[in-house]
This record gives sequence, structure tokens and C-alpha cells, in this order.
Amino acid sequence: MRVIASRLGALFTYSEAMLARFVVQIARGRRAGRLVRPTGEGALGGAQLMGGDDEELAAAARWLADAGFRAIDVNLACPVKKVLRRHRGGYLMGRPDLAVEIVARLRDALPPAVPVTVKMRRGLDDSTESRDAFFTILDGVFRTGAAAVTVHGRTVRQRYEGSSSWRFLREVKQHVGGAVVLGSGDLFTAADCLEMLRRTGVDGVAVARGAIGNPWIFRQIRALAAGKPCPQPDVDEQREVMVEHYRLAEATYGAKRTGPIMRKFGIQYARLHPQAEDVREAFIRVRCQDDWRRVLEQWYG
Ligand SMILES: Cc1cc2nc3c(=O)[nH]c(=O)nc-3n(C[C@H](O)[C@H](O)[C@H](O)COP(=O)(O)O)c2cc1C
Repeated sequence: MRVIASRLGALFTYSEAMLARFVVQIARGRRAGRLVRPTGEGALGGAQLMGGDDEELAAAARWLADAGFRAIDVNLACPVKKVLRRHRGGYLMGRPDLAVEIVARLRDALPPAVPVTVKMRRGLDDSTESRDAFFTILDGVFRTGAAAVTVHGRTVRQRYEGSSSWRFLREVKQHVGGAVVLGSGDLFTAADCLEMLRRTGVDGVAVARGAIGNPWIFRQIRALAAGKPCPQPDVDEQREVMVEHYRLAEATYGAKRTGPIMRKFGIQYARLHPQAEDVREAFIRVRCQDDWRRVLEQWYG
């Protein structure tokens, strides 16, 4: 997904959150290079880490930087219950001192050329304390040398319900002045991305769900920003990218696991097809590469 996004115009990509403990463990084993690697091909790729132990986070960050990741992002945002129970991810939004300490420790552990960035949510919840904690973390991490902060305008409590507060993003950008803030939340189309930039003044956007099934969104954003019409991929181009996506996934996950993994991407890619509903139905039945090939032949031939 990251390679495809880069080829289609994403300036920078991050991995999904990796547990610091997992990285430290696999770094000792032979499977490390296969499981965890930057995107390659000259694409700019960072790694995201999640954890609650600063020593473990620092060791994992150093290993990832040595492995070629170009930046280390710290996850202070994940709202999954198990993650919160283990005092990781979004939990840290309620522990501002610890959160800042973790980022400072990571900054110290890495060479100056490897930027540390931070992913946050707007707060734990809608309380005033939560808001104060957000700004304590924000100011603290920039003071310790974070290169950028990505803010998802939902609270941890909100998970994915309701909307992302773009008004809050605007406040954040006004608060930090020149420091780099990227906005996240409800960026489903290229037009949404430009609208966020216009309405909030953030320095950039972090596209998430909007890229799944439409990696062309990055190229579309660039076209719209240049005042050109939004380029839509035709069925031939959709097929080309999907074939390549499958090939890249197979090289990473192996033949057996790739069918089920690509099935969910297929279901999302189907949204761009003129007969979206039928194609979606067909992808839902995909279990292996032969199924995948048949769907492409029948609907994207
Ligand atoms: C299934 C799923 C997995 C996610 N995993 C991560 C993750 O590992 N790290 C992260 O920083 N954000 C993660 N996010 C959050 C997104 O980066 C983004 O902040 C959020 O989806 C809001 O943006 P959107 O509304 O444009 O999708 C995830 C979101 C979803 C839906």
C-alpha cells in the first residue's frame, strides 16, 4: 500500500503502528528483515512505534532507523481498548508528562538526521483537563525537538464516531505558529484535503481511509492544488495498479496469506468501478490468487 501510494504521488508514508516490544523481539531474529522494512525504491517512508516503556521504544527506534526508515513517529492516538489497558497509544494523551518524556527519550536515542514526529488525537475526551493535557503534550514535544505533529481531530473516547474537529486543527495551527502540523480526520476525497488545508491552515494532510481503494487520491490532490481537473483512473489503470498491489503484497506476505489480505483492498477498489456493487460482491468471494485473477479478468478485462 505504501509503495503504491508513493508511486502515485504521496510525499511521505508511515507504517502502521508497530509495538516497540515486537520490534525489539524480532530485531534479534532472522525474520526481522522480511517482516519490518522500509518501502525502498527511494520512497520516503517512516515507521510508527507504539509502546509505554521508553527504553524499549528507544531501542526499537534505533533499530528501525538503522534498517532504513527515514523518520520515527510516536503513536499517542490509538483508541483500541486493549492498547489503552496496556497504557499505550491514546492512553498517553492522559499522561502528558510521560508522553513528553517518551518523545524526549526517543529524540535523544536517534541520530539528529532522523526526525521524530508524533501522532495525537484531540484529547482523551471533551473535558477541559483533556484539552489542557493536549496542549501540554503539543508544546512539550515541540520543545524536545519533534519535527512535526499529526493531529487527528477526534478524541480517544470518540474512536471513529462523529466527525473530526477541523476547528480544533485550526486552533492548533494558530497556537504553534511556524511548527509543522499535519491534519488528520475525514479526508475521503482530494477535495476534502484541499478544503482542510484552506480551512485550518495546517501545513499538510495525512490521508488514511481515503487512500484505501483510491491510492490515486495523492495525484488527484496535486492536480486540484495546481488548478487542474481531478484525474479519475479508468478501468485499465485501476487494473494495472491492482495487479501490482497484489504482486507487492505477495512478495511481502507470501502466496497463502495474500488472497485474504487483498480481498479487503479489492472490496475498496471496487468503489471506483462503474459497476461498483457487482464488483464488490465478486471481491467478497475472493480467497486466493486464482479468485482474484478471475475477478480482474471478468470486470477489468
Ligand atoms: C483500521 C484503521 C487502522 C488505523 N491504524 C492506525 C495506525 O496504526 N497508526 C495511526 O497513527 N493511525 C491509525 N489509524 C488512524 C488514521 O491514521 C487516521 O488518523 C484516522 O483514520 C482519521 O482519518 P480518516 O478519517 O481520514 O480516515 C487507523 C485507522 C483505521 C480506520
